[in-house]
Amino acid sequence: MDAYGDQVRLRAMDVADAEALWRWNHDAEVMRWMDEGYAETTAQVAKWLGERPENAYGDVLFGVEEPGGTLIGLVRLHGAEPETGIAELDIYLGEKDFWGKGYGTDAMRTACRYGFEKMRLRKINLTAVVENEAAVHIYRKVGFIEEGRLRQVFRRDGEWIDKFTMGLLAHELR
Ligand SMILES: CC(C)(COP(=O)(O)OP(=O)(O)OC[C@H]1O[C@@H](n2cnc3c(N)ncnc32)[C@H](O)[C@@H]1OP(=O)(O)O)[C@@H](O)C(=O)NCCC(=O)NCCS
Repeated sequence: MDAYGDQVRLRAMDVADAEALWRWNHDAEVMRWMDEGYAETTAQVAKWLGERPENAYGDVLFGVEEPGGTLIGLVRLHGAEPETGIAELDIYLGEKDFWGKGYGTDAMRTACRYGFEKMRLRKINLTAVVENEAAVHIYRKVGFIEEGRLRQVFRRDGEWIDKFTMGLLAHELR
């Protein structure tokens, strides 16, 4: 099922989304605080989208649509295990014209609510580069708490930078 927030719709991604995903992954500004990986072709991205298993408990990938229906980013809950009920969350909005309009916050809340209510997760974890102030701000805003600091694990502009590990228990979502 799709998941609806106040503003965004979260829906499954398919091969038709490959061009957008390729463009985001090759945009230095979008990828500034994330691991870029190696260069890929659009065909490789399409193959990945086409061949990945359907969404299921251990790996749920959602495209984020704004109210006009444009795909603006993705959010993913992955690595969930029934023994712990803990999943990892990744989010990024690749369409920069849509930054700063509340969609990231709404997508976070909607994905976390989906995780706690539909998947019955107990906890959601993520990591964020400490200098990525907008991301850390929205994570705190929806209730994530800093639990630790991984020292010098991310490299940008020749510098090694720390990351926060952050966690959210079901009753902390706001
Ligand atoms: C981080 C990201 C998901 C945020 O989504 P968004 O839709 O732009 O964010 P929102 O509009 O919901 O909220 C932005 C908030 O951050 C704040 N903010 C923006 N830039 C900021 C900065 N430099 N320092 C502190 N706060 C900042 C805004 O004031 C706003 O807070 P408010 O609603 O309390 O006023 C999105 O910008 C993105 O995907 N960026 C690139 C990829 C990325 O960094 N992903 C996260 C990897 S951990």
